[in-house]
Amino acid sequence: MTADSNRVRAWGPASLSNLGPGFDALGMCLAGLGDTVEVWQVPEPGIRITSEPSTDSVPNDPEYNTAAAAARVVLNRLAPGTGLEMRIHKGIQPGSGLGSSAASAVAGAWATSVLLGGPPNRASVIGAVLEGERVVSGAPHGDNVLPSLFGGLVLVSPGDPLRWRRLPIGGNVALAVVRPDVTILTREARAMLPNKVPLADAVRNAASLAFLVDAFRAGDMETVGQCIEEDRLVEPVRARLVPSFEAIRRAAKEAGALGCALTGSGPAMFAICIDDTSARRVAQAMHEAAGEGDVRSIVTHVDPKGARVTDVARPGVVL
Ligand code: HSE
Repeated sequence: MTADSNRVRAWGPASLSNLGPGFDALGMCLAGLGDTVEVWQVPEPGIRITSEPSTDSVPNDPEYNTAAAAARVVLNRLAPGTGLEMRIHKGIQPGSGLGSSAASAVAGAWATSVLLGGPPNRASVIGAVLEGERVVSGAPHGDNVLPSLFGGLVLVSPGDPLRWRRLPIGGNVALAVVRPDVTILTREARAMLPNKVPLADAVRNAASLAFLVDAFRAGDMETVGQCIEEDRLVEPVRARLVPSFEAIRRAAKEAGALGCALTGSGPAMFAICIDDTSARRVAQAMHEAAGEGDVRSIVTHVDPKGARVTDVARPGVVL
């Protein structure tokens, strides 16, 4: 809780999703980057929102706002007929591929649950955060919201997001992340994917995903790096949306990355690195290759904790 126990502020971390061949299935929680949502209860029904920075891509209409949609599910369960005021601090730019909508949904649902005395386990808000994701992306996929909620590396069943597992990571994961100055809406990036794919590609993806999960468990980051570049189903289609995709991957590899791939629907890309020193070099190279405009990059790690209550309005960097 914050100092004022009538208000709760929660942190929803950013996340990588579609890890390599794990479309809609494998995601990872990121340290140091995320959104915060502060809530307090009011007697009038409904949810009123202010967001910072105020932007058109974060609607203040609660019908279309992911944090409000997630919070509403919790509110209707724990305190029906009452209302909430909500202040959203965005640290992740919407349309970046870093789980911006998921982070807000997670922070909104968890802050509301803590405020209203909900169950102390984060699993109790899974349905709420999936609803928040559905409002924005058109589908309740769980590969951003579940890593953001629980932290770590999370595998989720695309057909049944209530079926998920937190997976072991056997070593240090040093990450370089760059966001080129391109906005990609998940809803549109999903619509461009084919309904049918060649069997040979599906089989290769399945095998690569299995190798990837095992390599994470073993702490074999060389194999992790190799496997994240083996998606044959989704990344080849979406890479066209990022003009600097090939240049960024090439720059990352030349600077020493073990592997580099798109996260989510892009445009952000991440690279697996041997250690932080390498990750700093790789991040710089990716940044320079990402072209003109408002390009951002960071060196980061896996956040093992996920959603949590925080005293700080903006505990991370802004990407
Ligand atoms: N798995 C989702 C997709 C993540 O790729 O559509 C979106 O960020």
